[in-house]
Amino acid sequence: MHSISFFLSRMAFNSTFLKDTVMKDQLEKLQELALSELAVVAGEEELQALKVRFLGKKGELTAIMKGIGSLTAEERPVIGQVVNSVRDRIEAAFEERSIYLKDTLRKERLRSEKIDVTLPGRRSPIGTKHPVTLVIEEISDIFAGLGFLVAEGPEIELDYYNFEALNFPKDHPARDMQDTFFVQDNLLLRTHTSPVQIRTMLKQKPPLRIIAPGTVYRCDYDATHSPMFHQIEGLMVDKGVTFGDLKGILTIFTNQMFGSDIGVRLRPSFFPFTEPSAEVDIACVICRGKGCRVCKNSGWLEILGAGMVDPEVFKHVDYDSEEISGFAFGMGIERVAMLKYGINDMRLLFENDVRFLSQF
Ligand code: PHE
Repeated sequence: MHSISFFLSRMAFNSTFLKDTVMKDQLEKLQELALSELAVVAGEEELQALKVRFLGKKGELTAIMKGIGSLTAEERPVIGQVVNSVRDRIEAAFEERSIYLKDTLRKERLRSEKIDVTLPGRRSPIGTKHPVTLVIEEISDIFAGLGFLVAEGPEIELDYYNFEALNFPKDHPARDMQDTFFVQDNLLLRTHTSPVQIRTMLKQKPPLRIIAPGTVYRCDYDATHSPMFHQIEGLMVDKGVTFGDLKGILTIFTNQMFGSDIGVRLRPSFFPFTEPSAEVDIACVICRGKGCRVCKNSGWLEILGAGMVDPEVFKHVDYDSEEISGFAFGMGIERVAMLKYGINDMRLLFENDVRFLSQF
């Protein structure tokens, strides 16, 4: 107990007498207020807002603490202790309330959410194969049945394999920048799958029977041309291979691919690496040869180029054209896919619209 005179002297000589009492009082009130408000907080968001209000940098506790500066040196630690204990108490209460809220919310959810364990599971969509892939697989299957193995080559190709060894003269229009994407002087994006013929013959001795599906590139873009498209190359070399074998193999192929009654026609044509060369048509799959818009009233649709391997090509791979002969063909995959599925614009194949692609 202090005497009255003590208080009086303090009041007279120490102006902080009231201040520290007032601060202590404020702190206790703050604690009380915080605890009572916390007790009714119902959600995490509200809780955070309350935390900012009481404990934040611009919060109420900080506001009271600003008064500490005007206390005496003896009173400061005393009030400091009160501040710490109030802060600890409020913080602990926040923590408690937070745990309580999380727990009740979880229990609440478990009570209200009904789980039907008899519902069938949800399948994740697995997609479908691209029509170009489907056609490559189907063509490959047919030729596998005829004894053809699959060969591959690079998409970035040397001028030598793409043109030179295939007997393209230096000034052939296909070698022009207009049609070919050049990477460097001697390096380009292959314009057809025919370089795989050369690569395969350099590695293997006859007899051989290969098909080479793959991506090819040409500087071209409209409803029937894409700068990136696909071809499938075929090559058969053996003793005594004739043009009749070529026609026979292609007829078996078109019959399996488009139906056994589909007509096949060979027209004379020219490729630098085949002699003689032919363009191969099938009867229009839409009108069956009667004439329609798709076949431009001709009744026929061109699907591939073919011919007997030119002796000049055999020279490049060191094959003896007196001993062996062979045929080659090259088919546009997109063209076949468009005919098979009735697609009227090649660009649809590469727009990657799932609504379109999932139909196949
Ligand atoms: N490579 C030719 C083209 O892209 C097609 C072809 C291949 C022709 C094989 C004859 C023999 O047009």
